[in-house]
Amino acid sequence: MGSADNLATLPMSRCLAPELAIAVIGPGRVGSRLLERLTAASNAWQLLSVANSTRMTESKSLAESSWQASLAASQQETDLDVLVERLWNSDSKLKVVVDVTASVDVAAHHVDWLANGLAVVTANKWALAAPRRQYRDLARLLEQPQARYEAAATVGAGLPVLATLDALHQAGEPIISFGGCLSGSMTFLTSRISAGQRPCQALADAVAGGLTEPDPRADLDGLDVARKLVILGRRAGLDLDLSEVEVDSLVPEGLRDATVGEFLAAGSALDACWAGQVETAPGTGQIVRHVGRVDGQGRARVGLEKVSDNDALASLAGADNLIEIHTDCYRETPLVIRGPGAGIDVTALALWGGLCRLDRGV
Ligand SMILES: NC(=O)c1ccc[n+]([C@@H]2O[C@H](COP(=O)([O-])OP(=O)(O)OC[C@H]3O[C@@H](n4cnc5c(N)ncnc54)[C@H](OP(=O)(O)O)[C@@H]3O)[C@@H](O)[C@H]2O)c1
Repeated sequence: MGSADNLATLPMSRCLAPELAIAVIGPGRVGSRLLERLTAASNAWQLLSVANSTRMTESKSLAESSWQASLAASQQETDLDVLVERLWNSDSKLKVVVDVTASVDVAAHHVDWLANGLAVVTANKWALAAPRRQYRDLARLLEQPQARYEAAATVGAGLPVLATLDALHQAGEPIISFGGCLSGSMTFLTSRISAGQRPCQALADAVAGGLTEPDPRADLDGLDVARKLVILGRRAGLDLDLSEVEVDSLVPEGLRDATVGEFLAAGSALDACWAGQVETAPGTGQIVRHVGRVDGQGRARVGLEKVSDNDALASLAGADNLIEIHTDCYRETPLVIRGPGAGIDVTALALWGGLCRLDRGV
């Protein structure tokens, strides 16, 4: 038997079998990092196609060449039906589509792909957080034992939150409530604001540090966290819908339709919006946190809370996430999952982990 050190330094190819044919949709920040891992993994898996929003490329030997050069030279417009058909025609045992976009249109294909026997690995939240009627088709497929849908990267950038809730639910453990800080950028902002910085200045620093979405209103409106709650709640067996999550937006009403530049320049309106939300936020502590919570009846809320110094949420730093799960067995002391909840490396690692699980047939 090798030591732990030896195991850690085994070449990647020893972990893999040449069983997967893979198409990656969305070679952006996270997708490119995943592709780095894929192309460094010798020829153990077959990377067949890469597609962005406008073009796609494919080759039997993409992994050996440069997917960037192939994509840049490609004249082929992105057509997901064509991409999937070619994937389907490959002779690999398992054909996998990796969705690393944030596109509703791409997510709308997940059900068809699964129904046609493809495996899906996704960082894209839209299918799992879709409106109830749409989601039911996906939920029905996910109940089939042969369905392969790896979604750890959709919440907490791969922290084992989905898997934990799933395991508790499968074990029949009654979930009393769960929640916490599910947005890294909001942890950064609330830490700065609790330390006395003006909200508009904290936001400017977060934007400059690349911690927010290109349009920071996508972080501040609370909907991204609400979607994560829906995904987690459904995994915990609740019939939760986005329309039922109570969300306190931190985007001033008059700036919802402004350009990003106008929004970022309207500092005092943002400060006033935060001040109002802090004043009415539940809690009496001195530390402000952006929190999403779901109780056992499926009541869900996203918004600011004032927590005390000794609350676990108060100790968060950087862009960390922290999720507390209360169940029958974890009643007094919750089960806590904490760590980086955003980031290119950890999200790409979560996708990679999904591919490894598919490869092992777990
Ligand atoms: N960044 C993080 O820390 C993080 C953490 C957790 C989860 N995620 C999730 O990971 C996903 C990707 O995030 P990212 O930060 O890598 O985003 P990104 O840098 O904006 O990349 C998005 C990619 O998706 C492609 N794309 C968009 N619409 C498409 C379409 N209709 N068809 C094909 N390709 C399309 C884009 O192509 P073009 O370049 O042609 O537009 C781009 O390659 C998102 O769902 C995000 O929520 C990200």
